[in-house]
Amino acid sequence: PRPIYLDCDTGIDDALALTYLLNSDGVRLAGIGTVSGNTSAREAAANTQSLLRAHGSVVPVAVGSHDPLDGRYRGGAPHVHGGNGIGDVSLPPGDDVTSETAPEMLLRLAREHGRDLDVVAIGPLTNIAHALALDPTLPERVGTLTIMGGAVWAPGNITAVAEANIHNDAEAARQVLAAGFTTVLVPLDVTLQHCFDDEDAEVLAREATPLHVALGAMLHRYLDFYESVDHVRRSPLHDPLAAAIAAGDLRIDTRETGVAVTIGGPEHGRTVATDEGPVARVVIGAEPATAALIRDRIIAGPHPSHYAPRV
Ligand code: BDR
Ligand code: CA
Repeated sequence: PRPIYLDCDTGIDDALALTYLLNSDGVRLAGIGTVSGNTSAREAAANTQSLLRAHGSVVPVAVGSHDPLDGRYRGGAPHVHGGNGIGDVSLPPGDDVTSETAPEMLLRLAREHGRDLDVVAIGPLTNIAHALALDPTLPERVGTLTIMGGAVWAPGNITAVAEANIHNDAEAARQVLAAGFTTVLVPLDVTLQHCFDDEDAEVLAREATPLHVALGAMLHRYLDFYESVDHVRRSPLHDPLAAAIAAGDLRIDTRETGVAVTIGGPEHGRTVATDEGPVARVVIGAEPATAALIRDRIIAGPHPSHYAPRV
């Protein structure tokens, strides 16, 4: 299996993405760094450790940046992800975090695995930007960087034109997208096309493992938020989609383009297609069965004896 460094702001859809990657045979989580976004970096690490314990897996977790490059952490998204980041679902605590920071962990894993290491970033890009500042050769020394973020041709979700992960640290995103990584960008353009609904939440909860019951409860909370803004109970699979693409599990449509990030003004955090700068593969579509594939992988956990055969 390919080693992955996951950078996340756990987060309800981050929790789904984490479970997806833990259940994927083709990849192995070598380390996880956390960043402030949906919740603080420290709480995201605690959530991640709790989820790992509930899954029965051990992966080192490093706390990363509390504040974005260009300011102060703004307090997360409790209206979307609950006060604790995971829909106010409470889980038993997991292991302690590592003594290294998230950027240090990423650089260490890059040294150990070289271009075999893929990086999956599903929160603001602050830790990746800090790692880049410590080692500007990082883009040539790792494999693919898959980023959930941006809204290239689609409208935004945190402002009319900006997506949350990019808006929460636009300066970090500007630096990372200009750095020359082999980049796959998974923006709202595609994530809004693939959703879970109440049936998915119920199917997860029916699995009756503590992890799946918790994920089902989180998903109900996530659906409540989307219903309040979109008037339909469908929640986009932002982070799980990036996980599935990074694992190589989906047939996707992409467009190659440079991506610039607007800094300042009313369009702060907008991702704009440009002819200049390094080219990213921007995902604009994924196969129709994507949501079902993601749900099945999240269900098919590491303990087959827990599961009745699915018919
Ligand atoms: C992204 O922002 C966060 O709230 C989600 O976890 C996802 O990574 C979607 O815009
Ligand atoms: Ca996230």
